[in-house]
Amino acid sequence: MNRPAEASALAHSNIAFVKYWGNLVGDLRLPYNDSLSMNLSAAHTTTTVSFDPALASDHLSIDGNAHIGPALARVSRQLDLVRERAGIQTRASVASANSFPMGTGIASSASAFAALTLAACAAAGLSPSERELSCLARRGSGSAARSIPGGFVTWRAAAEDAESYAETVAPAEHWDLRDIVAIVSRQHKQLGSTGGHDAATRSPFFAARIAHSPDDYQAIHQALMDRDMARFGPAVEREAIALHAIAMTGDPPALYWSPETLALLHQVRAWRDAGLPVWFTLDAGPNVHLLCEARHADQLETELRRLDMVETYLHNRAAGPARLIQPDAPAAS
Ligand code: DP6
Repeated sequence: MNRPAEASALAHSNIAFVKYWGNLVGDLRLPYNDSLSMNLSAAHTTTTVSFDPALASDHLSIDGNAHIGPALARVSRQLDLVRERAGIQTRASVASANSFPMGTGIASSASAFAALTLAACAAAGLSPSERELSCLARRGSGSAARSIPGGFVTWRAAAEDAESYAETVAPAEHWDLRDIVAIVSRQHKQLGSTGGHDAATRSPFFAARIAHSPDDYQAIHQALMDRDMARFGPAVEREAIALHAIAMTGDPPALYWSPETLALLHQVRAWRDAGLPVWFTLDAGPNVHLLCEARHADQLETELRRLDMVETYLHNRAAGPARLIQPDAPAAS
């Protein structure tokens, strides 16, 4: 490799309806339970990787700001996996841009590591299968495995690296479900996901959640296949609360909710009582993902605009798979 070899990729973030929280094998990011998600149209990362023989070390910029320290080290470890497979040693420069704020419960690591892995493989001359790419993305961030395939996606728990990959269970067109993410806080969370996965395994309730997970998965998966909001919504809410229960009782405990989060959760119940069919889910952060069918989205947006506690919101529909793009291409969903 004498000249820089470059490729760009776009990947969407995803929201999990059955969530990944806790690793069986931490450094391989092999999860305890199967998870199920939808790719998010308005939340994506575009990343350009350029392997450049002139570089002495890897470089990383996110949204135009240079990063060193833990963020760069994590990206370098991911690049090492790609370099190892391609039989190259060349260092790379990585430039990444997000369509949404980082560290606020919209999973930036999912879209970031999916886009990074796809762009790095292409720039290194590799053409892995979707399954291999999903496994590789998983090593950078577990939820990134689910941002490789398109639409509604399942990621299986397995004891072997090559067996724990994600795949589409239904294309994006299957169900016009909306996820309107209400941003109530942009504060960086105190305990990141990686520490959170570890801490939660020490919750006295962790084993109970994992034991119950196959039943939850089955119920939520079936409701998704049937496009049945009346079964889907309540089951997804319970599943999210269960995640926060093990996070709150972990060691150390993680309290991701802000006062605004809780106020909004009560508001969701009030909306339902008033006849607006909307349900919530939450990732490891304070912002609230509001789930409704397309025909109720306008009314929900109107309600959200009335609330002072909601700074802004991000309206998502189901989105497609990670894909290679031309550098500087417009980031259409
Ligand atoms: C709560 O994939 O961010 O969003 O593997 O350490 O990067 P790392 O964790 P991450 O965990 C996501 C947790 C979650 C639930 C989910 O997306 O399944």
